[in-house]
Amino acid sequence: MTAPTKIAEASALDTARALVSPLAATIAIGVIQRRPWAVALAARLDADRRGIRQLQRLRTRYGTGLLRLKVPFRRMTLVLSPDDVRTVLSDVVAFTPANAEKAAALSRFEPGGVLISPPDERPPRRAFNEDVLDTPRPVHHHADAMRSAIVSEGRDLVATGSLDWDRFATGWWRMVRRIVLGDSARDDFETTDLLARLRRDGNWGPFHPARPAGTAEFRRRIRAYVDRAEPGSLAALAAADPDQLPQWLFAFDAAGIATYRVLALLATHPAQARRARADSGELPFLRACVHESVRLWPTTPAILRDYVAPPVGAEPRVDHGLSDGELVLIYAPFFHRDGQRLPYAHRFTPDIWLDGRARESWSLVPFSAGPAECPGRNLVLFTASTMLATLGASHRFELRTRLGLDSRGRLPGSVNHVAMRFRVVAHSDQG
Ligand code: HEM
Repeated sequence: MTAPTKIAEASALDTARALVSPLAATIAIGVIQRRPWAVALAARLDADRRGIRQLQRLRTRYGTGLLRLKVPFRRMTLVLSPDDVRTVLSDVVAFTPANAEKAAALSRFEPGGVLISPPDERPPRRAFNEDVLDTPRPVHHHADAMRSAIVSEGRDLVATGSLDWDRFATGWWRMVRRIVLGDSARDDFETTDLLARLRRDGNWGPFHPARPAGTAEFRRRIRAYVDRAEPGSLAALAAADPDQLPQWLFAFDAAGIATYRVLALLATHPAQARRARADSGELPFLRACVHESVRLWPTTPAILRDYVAPPVGAEPRVDHGLSDGELVLIYAPFFHRDGQRLPYAHRFTPDIWLDGRARESWSLVPFSAGPAECPGRNLVLFTASTMLATLGASHRFELRTRLGLDSRGRLPGSVNHVAMRFRVVAHSDQG
């Protein structure tokens, strides 16, 4: 294993700068549940572009090693090189995904989730997630049932001549509830609204009071679906560890945002839209578009790890120079959109996911990487690409709002998907 290069200490001024951008913007948007007003403000300020530039400046000043910020209340270190991304993400013992802030937030609705599990409980929970989600397979073994939910909800979405975020999200969540909980959950808005409320609390980490009654009610509802075990649903596979299910529901939110943004990317890139229409089979091109959507605008912009010092008397391991419990932060947009290293940084380039370029380095981590890499990655690519193929089979989407491409075709660092609206034109009406 490669050790991180030495740790530099940021000055108080540079710490303040990094705290303002990118950290404050990332926290304001909501690490667990996005706040629409903050998403809009971030897009107006192009917050991620600023955050990326800030980290580029810090890298020029301090080098590519780890950079410790002078934060009084929390030891915090930034990762500034792909090699250190690999070191951090490859080792879930020294760098636990069960970071303190994440645990405080997620324990409100998934206290037993793998992502925040202690080291001894992680391996069986991870294996269970991989089993249920069919992690290595591009097409889930429940694909037939999933496809029928996706296609019927997708057809509803194009039934009127326009599409906005509210309408898309409503249809998307109907599809998600059918896939995760079963067809009978299609209109169970209450369960997902309750989850949204618990997620909003989670944005505040340890600073929002717990809502034990809400948490208990949410778990009771999940349990009822697991007991019902509707054939074709993920709930039917969850009986051995129902505590994993909330993450599957919760995380489909990000997949909806990524899918909706692909509609905007295709609407503004006609040549790629033609390739999308011609896609077939396992939909490799549309899958690449979804990958590209989360590269350009990562839905998990901050990947958090806490350093765990080796216990006294344990085998010595590489000395990372970090202290026990120190927060290690990978700000994904910096790596995904680093124009100083990646020629395609700000352009819609789905081909990098098809020709091997995306696999070349540890720079591109929209689904994280290593032993805690998103086990739902293939399921996301399947559902999102199938939805996009359904929508595109009969209709074309014209973006009625600005995406913010500049005169050289470069995409903005932040976008406001909530404000995006489309005119939906049937292919047969194009004359
Ligand atoms: C666009 C959609 C999604 C993206 C970009 C995404 C990304 C991620 C990332 C970055 C992580 C690691 C988080 C961390 O290390 O702190 C993660 C973990 C995880 N994701 Fe996803 N995810 C998505 C959707 C899903 C879906 C739909 C599911 C399940 C149906 C899922 C299941 C999980 C699970 C169980 C973990 C925890 C893995 C572990 O701790 O070992 N994700 N995801």
